[in-house]
Amino acid sequence: MASAKVFPPRTPGPARLVVLVSGSGTNLQALIDAAADSAFGAEIIAVGADRDGIAGLERAERAGLPAFVHRVKDFPARADWDRALTEAVAEHRPDLVVTAGFMKILGPEFIAAFAGRIVNTHPALLPAFPGAHGVTDALAYGVKVTGCTVHLVDAGVDTGPIIAQGVVEVTDADHADGGDALHERIKTVERQLLVEVVGRLAREGHRIEDRKVWIPA
Ligand code: GAR
Repeated sequence: MASAKVFPPRTPGPARLVVLVSGSGTNLQALIDAAADSAFGAEIIAVGADRDGIAGLERAERAGLPAFVHRVKDFPARADWDRALTEAVAEHRPDLVVTAGFMKILGPEFIAAFAGRIVNTHPALLPAFPGAHGVTDALAYGVKVTGCTVHLVDAGVDTGPIIAQGVVEVTDADHADGGDALHERIKTVERQLLVEVVGRLAREGHRIEDRKVWIPA
């Protein structure tokens, strides 16, 4: 058995979260809303993005949160982007980094800097249908149930230890609209699951043993 790595809850005071987004940011919004209650145990201290002009950044602005944008195309090499993103996040001294609809693969420097403390949410039941098209890949495969997975990020694509999953049924009608309605139903479950998991990690801490994530209580 691999030795356990323990991440204690932050005491005293709320855990510090940096949230990374690429799109509409409804998962970010769910975290912003949850963090308005001090009992949640975490506060969002910054929002990062890989692109401008997204609703996720508008949500950060409305909530009065500092935000930063690093676009891959503005850097000579992917490794330079990875370093800049790592430094921008590290500046905020996060206890946890949440990738909530962040559509870029994090580089090795970033993963090493925040190992075991990066939480991702994915719109499929991993290990099935990893990658950028989890909803439509599941639909095309013909599955009858799909859902969402909240997991820790490792060096692979959606391969890290699973923390929690939520199940959503696929209906015949879902094949008619290309998966949009299905994705919306998944996101309803996903937002709730992400808030629940992040709150528990912040309040209780966690332990990683082999591929298992243990949260006390
Ligand atoms: C979420 O469904 C998330 O799981 C997915 O993007 C959506 C973002 O929604 N992420 C991925 O597909 C990553 N592979 P949001 O911007 O409204 O939070």
